Amino acid sequence: MSKTVRFAISLDDSLLVDFDNLIKRQGYQSRSEAIRDLIRGQLVTHGWDEKEEAIGTITIVYDHHRTNLSDNLTKKQHEHHDLIVSSMHVHLNNDNCLEIIAVKGEGKKIRNLADSLISTKGVKHGELTLTTSGKEIS
Ligand code: NI
Repeated sequence: MSKTVRFAISLDDSLLVDFDNLIKRQGYQSRSEAIRDLIRGQLVTHGWDEKEEAIGTITIVYDHHRTNLSDNLTKKQHEHHDLIVSSMHVHLNNDNCLEIIAVKGEGKKIRNLADSLISTKGVKHGELTLTTSGKEIS
């Protein structure tokens, strides 16, 4: 059984003003609630609890004119088809493509796949968003 603890945080007043404005816009009722969500998010993203199944998205933006890039990205996704639930490809403009890949599985494997896709030469922007389904990995 866990209990609630209180702790104090020291920070720059301007940073606190920005934070308060942000969480107000996001609809949080209190700082505690916002900070709890931030901490949970960080714990999931950094794999603190690997017992639970991770779910999320990998988003990448890349220039499809770049030699072999589309093929490389597709190959990497096929090699990890067990982690990929679905993917969406958007032709953003003449040069750029956006891919949103829905993933589910072991957090560590998903992070490795995301790192591999995002660090592929020619990928302009990439982001991994992870949360947990709450289901224990058997
Ligand atoms: Ni495209």
